[in-house]
Parts: sequence; structure tokens; C-alpha cells
Amino acid sequence: MIVMGVETSCDETSVAISKNGKTMLSNVVLSQMELHASFGGVVPEIASREHVKGITAVFEEALKQAKLTAQDIDLVAVTKGPGLIGSLLVGINAAKAFAYAHDKPIVGVHHIAGHIYANQIEGEMRFPLVCLVVSGGHTELILMRDHYRFEKLGETLDDAVGEAFDKVARVLGLGYPGGPKIDAQAMKGSPRYPMPDVPLKDRFDFSYSGLKSHVINTLNTLKMKGQTVDVPDMCASFQEAAVEQLIVKSKMAMESTGATMFMIAGGVAANKRLRERVADAFADVDVLVPPFAYCTDNAAMMSIAGYYRYREQPSDQGLSINGFPRLDLSQHEK
Ligand code: KG4
Ligand code: ZN
Repeated sequence: MIVMGVETSCDETSVAISKNGKTMLSNVVLSQMELHASFGGVVPEIASREHVKGITAVFEEALKQAKLTAQDIDLVAVTKGPGLIGSLLVGINAAKAFAYAHDKPIVGVHHIAGHIYANQIEGEMRFPLVCLVVSGGHTELILMRDHYRFEKLGETLDDAVGEAFDKVARVLGLGYPGGPKIDAQAMKGSPRYPMPDVPLKDRFDFSYSGLKSHVINTLNTLKMKGQTVDVPDMCASFQEAAVEQLIVKSKMAMESTGATMFMIAGGVAANKRLRERVADAFADVDVLVPPFAYCTDNAAMMSIAGYYRYREQPSDQGLSINGFPRLDLSQHEK
């Protein structure tokens, strides 16, 4: 089964083609990152316009790299949310037009299901598993007892962890996106600045606004005293606290569910310190981490999630698919 994935939920225009829920035949990602960098974050209006400009060429390039024609595609899987609505609609309409013109079935896929299934590209998911989803918009612990069954154990009550990385990078003048910049700076520093303790210790839920505010307050205090901040040390201190919270909650989730596999997913899964800590903390269970190339937004992961969605519920959603700016993973069937 050949599945074409389409992803335009934020600032990446991407189309990918996979075979039998595993082999990637192509994964074309047109990133707008540089365009948004000068604004310090994604500008929704610019994002949708760039998707419109690029989408047709990205479809063509994905088919070309896979050495296939439109007729070879068996299923189209498109991100239906959550994300920027103007951006989502560009991908959804392009995918619908493709499916309609070539008479192919089409399914809408939850963006986070895609991030989770990035783990299936080079690994093999085994159940029951717990997946820590960490991206720019999400921080969640998901229990999966089988393919395409998602149970949310906990989530952030305020900011997402990636959002905190981006915000802290911004106040330190490191630019956008902040995650990779903090990751790189932290490697040169040591975590000597005091940080708040892990919040909500007896819950699976997360909170990052306190940590973010603490860093901002520390910077303001140093400034008022006429002192300069050591950027690598501040990055290491913030990152250590941010990752510690992820590890503490993940351990709790693994212990309380008795899951035998642990996975991470989403843009922040590219963080080197998180990967190190995960390897240490979960040495006694199976661990899957997505390949670096599939951590941030891409259509490869959407095509794999689409394959499993269709395998579990083989129905063509046709032209009824809509975009959802907010969409809980429990509503993935919508
Ligand atoms: O999954 P993603 O591409 O988009 C969303 O669905 O949100 O995640 C983007 C987020 C950004 O906040 C970015 O700063 C963060 O992932 N990120 C990282 C790293 N690489 C990307 N955060 C920490 N360390 C990294 N190496
Ligand atoms: Zn994402």
C-alpha cells in the first residue's frame, strides 16, 4: 500500500510517500523557517501564503523522488489539525483536489498521531507503550495499548515545553527557533543557576510557565545589578530543569501503567540532553526515539500515521475533511 502524506499545519510545506507503513520513498520538506526568523516566530498570514506558493511543486517533487505517478498512490493522508487554520486548509484542499482528481481514498490525520508514528519509520512500536509528546504546541503523556489507540495520561496546564525553549531563547537573544540554539549553547555550559523544583509532583500534568518566568526574572535581576548573564550556563540550567520535569513525569507514567516500551515524539525529541536522560532513565525497558530528521514537522510521519489510521478504520473521508485549529488527540477519529 502506497500512502501519500501531506503536512502544512505550521511553517513546513511537506509531502511524503511511504510503502506498507514503513519504507519511505520520498519526504520533501520546504521550510519557511528563515522567512519567519526575522519576526521571532511564525507569522500565520505569511505561513499560509508560502504554503500556497509551494504546495504544487512539493507534490510534484515527492512523486518525482519516489519515481511514481499519481496513479500509483493508494491513499492520501493529510494533517487536519491542530495547527494554524489558514496553513492547514492549504494542505487539506490540495490533498482533497489530488484525491478527487485521481479517484483515491483520503483520510484526515491528527498532527500528534503523526509525531508519534515518526517512531515507526525506523523502529517497531510494541504495546503497551507510553509516548512523551514534546513539541512547540504540546507536552503530553500518551498511553497506547494498541495501534492507533491513544489515551491521554497528562498534559501541560500552561505552556508547552518547546514554547518555553523558544521564549527563553528569545529573551537570551538567541533567535528563532530557540530549541536547537539552547541545545547547542547548553553543551558549552554547566547548570549552575538555581531553577525551581519540578511542579505538580504527584500528577502526570506539566507546567512550564513558572520555569519560563523564573528565567526571565533572573535575567532582569542580573540586569538591574549591572551583571551579565553567562548564556551557556543559563541555557544548561534551564534545559536541565525542563528535561528533569519530562523525565520525572514519564517515569511516573511508566510505573503506574506497567508499559513495557517508552517513546518520545515531537520537535523537542531532537534535544540531545533529553535523549541522553531518556536512555539512562529507561534502560530497563524498550525505548524508541524518532530519527532526528523526523522529529520536527514533516509529511513522512503523517503518511505512516495515515497508513495505520486507514488500517484500523478503512473508510474514505472524501471531501468532508475539515481543518481544526484545536483538536484533542482523543478526537482523532473526527
Ligand atoms: O514538532 P515541531 O516541529 O512543531 C510543533 O508541532 O510544534 O516542534 C517545534 C518545537 C519548537 O519549539 C523548537 O524550538 C523545538 O521543537 N525544538 C527543540 C529542538 N529542536 C526543535 N527543542 C529543544 N531542543 C532541540 N534540539
Ligand atoms: Zn509538530
